Amino acid sequence: MTAETDWPALAAALGREGYRRQAFAQHSAGEVAFLVEHLGLGPGDVVADVGCGPGRHLDEWRRRDIRVAGFDASPAFAPPVLAHALRLPLRGGSVTAAVALGVAAYVPLDVLLAELRRVARHAVAVSAFHAAFARRHLGMVGRRVVETARLPNGTAVVHAHDCHEPHELPGRVYGGFRDAPPTDDDPELVAVWGLRRSRPPVGPALAAAGATDLPRTAPAPGTGTPRAAAAASGRGRRRAGCAGA
Ligand SMILES: C[S@@+](CC[C@H](N)C(=O)[O-])C[C@H]1O[C@@H](n2cnc3c(N)ncnc32)[C@H](O)[C@@H]1O
Repeated sequence: MTAETDWPALAAALGREGYRRQAFAQHSAGEVAFLVEHLGLGPGDVVADVGCGPGRHLDEWRRRDIRVAGFDASPAFAPPVLAHALRLPLRGGSVTAAVALGVAAYVPLDVLLAELRRVARHAVAVSAFHAAFARRHLGMVGRRVVETARLPNGTAVVHAHDCHEPHELPGRVYGGFRDAPPTDDDPELVAVWGLRRSRPPVGPALAAAGATDLPRTAPAPGTGTPRAAAAASGRGRRRAGCAGA
């Protein structure tokens, strides 16, 4: 069986503080500043932070007078809303923007994008692990990196995540939270794009990224595309997910 990340177990072992002490978690202010600028957001806007973990970005949104709802499926992270990323308890078009940072590795990308598009009016952003980086620096073959995380208490937890190519992401793709296209040495991709039902104008960054058509309704998880349907029916490979979520 292909390894999957059991996020509720990983979250319980790490804890909120353990997660927030990780090196990658020290750049929340700059990441939100990048998203605010590139999504064209401002005071009064409402953001859905999907897969927010222990919520390291939430205060940064609020500091800019942007209202934010955080959603995550790992109870140990105590997110504001315990919810699955593919079944958000939000009405269609009920937030200005939807962002999913570090979640695309664990759920089918096409279904995640459909759900983000469903709930957002103006713009969407996702970050993903970069396949070229993983091939070059981690020796990845295929699409998935499987690591064993050693936690301070000695527990070993499998951390498996899928990686993505820039062309798989809609809109404008950056090499991390910086104003440059990705290179093979960027571990992370950040993609932003505008939605046609956006308030006009979408702003220069989103105009450059392009606006996309919206599906009338998001497909139910596992049924949205031939690939997702294949996964749901047991055909195709298993995907990493939030076990137990
Ligand atoms: C790499 S962490 C990213 C957390 C946060 N966005 C950040 O940037 O620090 C991935 C998060 O996705 C959450 N997650 C994984 N699968 C999920 C799912 N199906 N629904 C909701 N959250 C999920 C995990 O619980 C975890 O908090």
